[in-house]
Amino acid sequence: MTKTARAHTNIALIKYWGKKDAALRIPLMSSLSMTLDAFYTDTTIEKATGSSDFYLNGKKQTPANSKRVFAYIKKLQQRFDLKEENLVVKSTNHVPTSAGLASSSSAFAALAAAFCAFYNINADKTQLSRLARIGSGSASRSIFGGFSIWQKGDSDETSYAYVLDEHPQMDLHLLAIELDTKQKKISSTRGMKDAQSSPFFKPWIARNESELKQMIAAIKNDDFTALGKLAELNANEMHAINLTAQPEFTYFEPDTIRAIKLIETLRDKGIECYYTIDAGPNIKVLCQLRNIKEIIENFESEFNNVKIVSASFGPGVTYSD
Ligand code: PMV
Repeated sequence: MTKTARAHTNIALIKYWGKKDAALRIPLMSSLSMTLDAFYTDTTIEKATGSSDFYLNGKKQTPANSKRVFAYIKKLQQRFDLKEENLVVKSTNHVPTSAGLASSSSAFAALAAAFCAFYNINADKTQLSRLARIGSGSASRSIFGGFSIWQKGDSDETSYAYVLDEHPQMDLHLLAIELDTKQKKISSTRGMKDAQSSPFFKPWIARNESELKQMIAAIKNDDFTALGKLAELNANEMHAINLTAQPEFTYFEPDTIRAIKLIETLRDKGIECYYTIDAGPNIKVLCQLRNIKEIIENFESEFNNVKIVSASFGPGVTYSD
C-alpha cells in the first residue's frame, strides 16, 4: 500500500522566530503566511521490505540525512500507539533549485498528511496542522492554501494553524530572487535560540499581536500597500534581533543589501514593491501583477546570473492515491 500527499511551501508575512517549547515546537508568537503555487513537495510512504529508507528527489539519502524524517515518524507512531515498523519515504521537492526557498514547510506538511493517509488516521485539518508543526513550525501553515494563521496557543492542543482566506482575490505576487551567494547556513532552530539573547527580543514578542491584527486588517481591506509595508517591517525586526543577539549573527550577505537598495530605488521610481527575507540571504519581493515584468528586468540588469521565480497563491494539502 502506498500513500502520497502534496503540500505547497508558504512564506510568512508575520514571522515565527522564537520557540516556547522546542520539542513540541510551540512558538512564542503567532504568524501569518501566504501559501505559494509555484513550490511544493510530493511525499509517498510505503511499507519497507527491509530497512527504513528516505529518498529525496529520487536519491537514497544517508542515515545522517534521513535522521530528522525517521525521528519524526517514530514520534508520530508513538503518539498513535502504532507499531514502530520500517517505512520507505520518497519525497520530491518541486522547488526549482533556483528558487532559494527552504522547503521544510512543504516537506513536513506533506509528510504529516502522507503518514495519516498511510495509517488511515482520520485527522481533520486542525489535527494535521498540529502534527505538521511537530516536524517543522512553518509546516503547520502549509496544510492550508491562500492566507493562513498559526495561532501560537500554549500547548500541543492549542497551537495550530487555520485558514484566513483559502482563495484570496488580492493582487499579490511573490518573486523569489535567488542571489548568487554561498553562505554557511545557520539553521532556523539555532537562529531562533540565539536570537533570544537580543535586547530587542522581548519587544519583538510584545509587538506580535498588534502586527498580526494589522496584517489581518490589510488583507481584509485588500490593501497591498499596508500589507507590503508591514511584511517588510516585520522581516526587518526579525533580522534586527539577529544582528543584536549576543553574539550577533545575520543571514544577510552583501548581495542581500544590494537587493534591498534596488527595491528602494524601484519604489522611488514609483514601482511599488516590498521585500521579505527568511533564514537565508535571498530576498522575496512582494508586488502586484502590473509591475512583475519591470521588477524582473531591473533585477536581471543589476545582478549577474540572478534566477527569479514568480509565484502567487497556492492550495492546501492534497492526496493522490
Ligand atoms: O519552521 P521553520 O524551522 O522552517 O522556521 C521558519 C522560520 C522563518 O521562515 C524565518 C519564518 C516563518 O514563519 O516561516
